[in-house]
Amino acid sequence: MDYKQYIAEKIKVEGLSQEELYEMIGLAPNLEMGDYALPCFKLAKLMRKSPVAIAEELKNTIMSDEVIMSDKVISEVAAVNGYLNFKINKDSFVKATLDKILSEKDDFGRSTEGNGKTICLDYSSINIAKPFHIGHLSTTVLGGALYRIFNFLGYHTVGINHLGDYGTQFGKLISAYKRWGDKATIEKGGIRALNELYVKFHQEAEEHPEYDDEARAYFKRIEEGDAECLELFHWFKELTLKDVQKIYDMLDIHFDSYAGESFYSDKMGPVVEELRAKNLLIESRGAQVVDLEAYNMPPCIILKSDGTSLYATRDMSAAMYRKEHYDFDKCLYVVAYQQNLHFKQFFKVLELMGKEWAKDLVHVAYGMVSLEEGTMSTRKGNVVFLEDVISKCIEKAYTIIDEKNPDLENKEDVAKKVGVGAVVFGALYNNKIKDIVFSYDKVLNFDGETSVYVQYTCARAKSVLQKGGVPETYEIPTLTNPEIELVKALATFPDVVKSAAEKYEPSFIPRFAVDVAQKFNKFYFDCKILAAEDEKTKNFRLALTNATLQALKNAFTLLGIGLPDKM
Ligand code: ARG
Repeated sequence: MDYKQYIAEKIKVEGLSQEELYEMIGLAPNLEMGDYALPCFKLAKLMRKSPVAIAEELKNTIMSDEVIMSDKVISEVAAVNGYLNFKINKDSFVKATLDKILSEKDDFGRSTEGNGKTICLDYSSINIAKPFHIGHLSTTVLGGALYRIFNFLGYHTVGINHLGDYGTQFGKLISAYKRWGDKATIEKGGIRALNELYVKFHQEAEEHPEYDDEARAYFKRIEEGDAECLELFHWFKELTLKDVQKIYDMLDIHFDSYAGESFYSDKMGPVVEELRAKNLLIESRGAQVVDLEAYNMPPCIILKSDGTSLYATRDMSAAMYRKEHYDFDKCLYVVAYQQNLHFKQFFKVLELMGKEWAKDLVHVAYGMVSLEEGTMSTRKGNVVFLEDVISKCIEKAYTIIDEKNPDLENKEDVAKKVGVGAVVFGALYNNKIKDIVFSYDKVLNFDGETSVYVQYTCARAKSVLQKGGVPETYEIPTLTNPEIELVKALATFPDVVKSAAEKYEPSFIPRFAVDVAQKFNKFYFDCKILAAEDEKTKNFRLALTNATLQALKNAFTLLGIGLPDKM
């Protein structure tokens, strides 16, 4: 039962819909106050009364309502300092919540609200032949989590890796490869070897500016479909994708399309024509641009003076292609905030072109990730490869596990789940727009707000269930506060998933998991489970343990993190 829904249905405020009321009701700050609370200051303007008076009035109306009183869902209403606090009949609340989790199992939190709707998600979107570094962590795991979250809510999701596979850098690579490269070395070294070539090119080109001209010529040949150049280009692409696939597998990341920038190289003509036909293009120093001064933005460059396209042109073409092919309800771009202006510009240009769906394009911006050890620069070659960060986390996890539990079976497998989980959870735990400094010690802290803390809690719950068994039925005993607090936290999961999707904020999921794990541990230490005072209490506590494990499992599935059986 959705108690918030129940309360929103029963309180009637003139001029306010049930949905609006529903949004206003929140959890009460603590159990003494109640379970749910309506902050009446939000109604003050509408009802033209003080919050205190409103709370008092609503309380009296509810208490004199025979239907509500005979329902016995609400056990107490109180007006306190302008808040209307509700206490829910705990037994029925606890029973309803556990029944729901235990019967819905892996579907607990799932919904059908997105049925019939399509969401395109552009994430990870790596650059070919460039290192997959720590800077790509956020877009990859945020996008992956949003993909699963929307899917769980019934949406049809399309994951797109908008590859950076277009531009003179590929001419540079061909030039470098022809001059210094060696097939076997590149084949073996993958992205790292390609990156070394790229770095070498930049160093050498400083003294040999003619290399740059050569690179441009090679790029032109790719564009013109020269067989040899195209073959090399495809080979670089293949090597890059093979390399990153290892990481995607570890992080449980999938894509439905790898249509990148080069995919649009022959699809931009119509975009330019349409812009011209709509009188949006003007010439500026030889380039074709859309003036955005009226919107306080620099002009959006569509074609350079030599007639070549830009990043924005390809993105516009991609957006139109996606609309046509997927008919999305929303198209999300999970890209760092450094590109804010780029997205604002081309979204605006599409709007000016009269694409009413431009409003459905969303830039899901996120902050920077840096390593405690220092920053990096791609050109100079001192990059922190994501693969190295993950490996180091797995190694460190192994050392800790080996110390804590030397006899554990499958230590490697556990270390992998813990290490990968630490990286993913660490990247998702904070509000996405915040810059974060990645610290190995912090993400691997067994007692912190970390995935390993949750994983450890789950292993503990599993072990309890193994000893006590999973009860087939249970009844509600006299409840204690840690039990009620835990159930209240569990009950929020469906709402948590919904808000994570609405606000494009996956961090709600790891935060839910830590909150539940903390409350479970409080329950575990305060209430005896296996040695409970009677059979009824024991059965209930085992059922509660089972429901906790289920909810945490569902949360971790959305994050793409595994749960070891034992730790
Ligand atoms: N490859 C780009 C980069 O690394 C990100 C692409 C994001 N997606 C897009 N449609 N622009 O900066």
